[in-house]
Amino acid sequence: MPALFSSRFRPSRSSEPAGPALEPGAPLIRLRDVEKSHPAGTGRVYVLRHVSLDIQPGEFVSIMGPSGAGKSTLLSILGMFDGAWAGEYHFLGQPVHRLSVRERSALSKPAIGFVFQQYHLLDDLTVQENLDIPLSYRDVPKRERQALVADALDRFGIVGKKDLYPGQLSGGQQQLVAVARATIANPRVILADEPTGNLHSSQGREIMELFRALNEAGTTIIQVTHSESNAAYGNRTIQLRDGWVVDE
Ligand SMILES: Nc1ncnc2c1ncn2[C@@H]1O[C@H](COP(=O)(O)OP(=O)(O)OP(=O)(O)O)[C@@H](O)[C@H]1O
Ligand SMILES: [Mg+2]
Repeated sequence: MPALFSSRFRPSRSSEPAGPALEPGAPLIRLRDVEKSHPAGTGRVYVLRHVSLDIQPGEFVSIMGPSGAGKSTLLSILGMFDGAWAGEYHFLGQPVHRLSVRERSALSKPAIGFVFQQYHLLDDLTVQENLDIPLSYRDVPKRERQALVADALDRFGIVGKKDLYPGQLSGGQQQLVAVARATIANPRVILADEPTGNLHSSQGREIMELFRALNEAGTTIIQVTHSESNAAYGNRTIQLRDGWVVDE
């Protein structure tokens, strides 16, 4: 198994983080009494129960718990993919629970990078075209976009792969591109749902080392993981059981 490239990785120092400025000491993420349920027969089945959390900028948080505990559900609420929930969510000081779909998208797209277990690259775009997508959300001029893509290809050590399609890459390489894409626009936070779940252990370690480097450069990381060794990269673990936060 050839090693990936994280030893050559350099964090970006090129652009200011996206989104409104945060007051000193204010949490990046504040959840209060967040509840999520689905209709079931005549009643409802609850997936998240009274979840209240503060996450400060610069944290590296691991969310753990058994299958079905609500981990991915919580991450999709944090990522603002899911709007059907109750309670309060403040992101960068903004009340997400009161925002329209359009306002949520304007807030989340530049500020949040997402990494999925299944990579979710666009198969009919090349590596460099995939990397360009998040820059389009930040109104970056074309020449600067090209420079940022070239810089990311270089920092992640994937210049030689730039014209290949995702189907021509290994799983580990695809996840590396997915992490590059999630970080290229310098988001405040990276949300990662079992990012190493489909990778061999050495590739998984490379991805975790990348997260560590990004976190040391100031990016907040929130990962869902079943792995104790991945969780150990974080500074804090949140345990979910049946939708309840049971332990920190
Ligand atoms: N549309 C739906 N209707 C009813 N229940 C749902 C629906 N979508 C999700 N659920 C339930 O929500 C619960 C939490 O799902 P979620 O995907 O968040 O779990 P998870 O902790 O990420 O699990 P895993 O570790 O297996 O990925 C599950 O019990 C699931 O069955
Ligand atoms: Mg899940």
